[in-house]
Amino acid sequence: MVADTPQNKHILVVHGPNLNMLGQREPDHYGKRTLDDINGSLGEKAAKLGLQVSTFQSNHEGEIVEAIQRAVGRVQGLIINPAAYTHTSVAIRDAVLLLDVPTIEVHLSNIHKREPFRQQSFIADIATGQVSGLGASGYLFALEALAQRIA
Ligand code: DQA
Repeated sequence: MVADTPQNKHILVVHGPNLNMLGQREPDHYGKRTLDDINGSLGEKAAKLGLQVSTFQSNHEGEIVEAIQRAVGRVQGLIINPAAYTHTSVAIRDAVLLLDVPTIEVHLSNIHKREPFRQQSFIADIATGQVSGLGASGYLFALEALAQRIA
């Protein structure tokens, strides 16, 4: 029997459209850190927590759906910043429901302080929790929360 150690726990981190442009993109909202930088910090934090982490970014809704589908049965937690698809995508919501693991929704900016259309999320009511407005650190807080949740 394989022991259920934290090392066996795998977290998928999904970044939605335009997040590949972090660092250049509206730094007042999204900060100056690049996506590589954020993914690097997630890798370091995961190693400290004894978790495995995989990251995925796409500008295409269907590719995000397929990445989540591929993770079914393989990951124990999901961190997702669906970016603009947060506010539009029933398809990504359905994929997250299919995956059926503890899920933290992350936003770099505080979507609740922005335009009314950003204040609606198709993920929020099916997520375990949401981190919004804490910049890149939000991803690390989400990872800590999942580590506790799935320990
Ligand atoms: C975002 C907020 C979304 O409204 C926006 O479309 C993004 C990024 C955030 O991280 O603050 O692309 O998800």
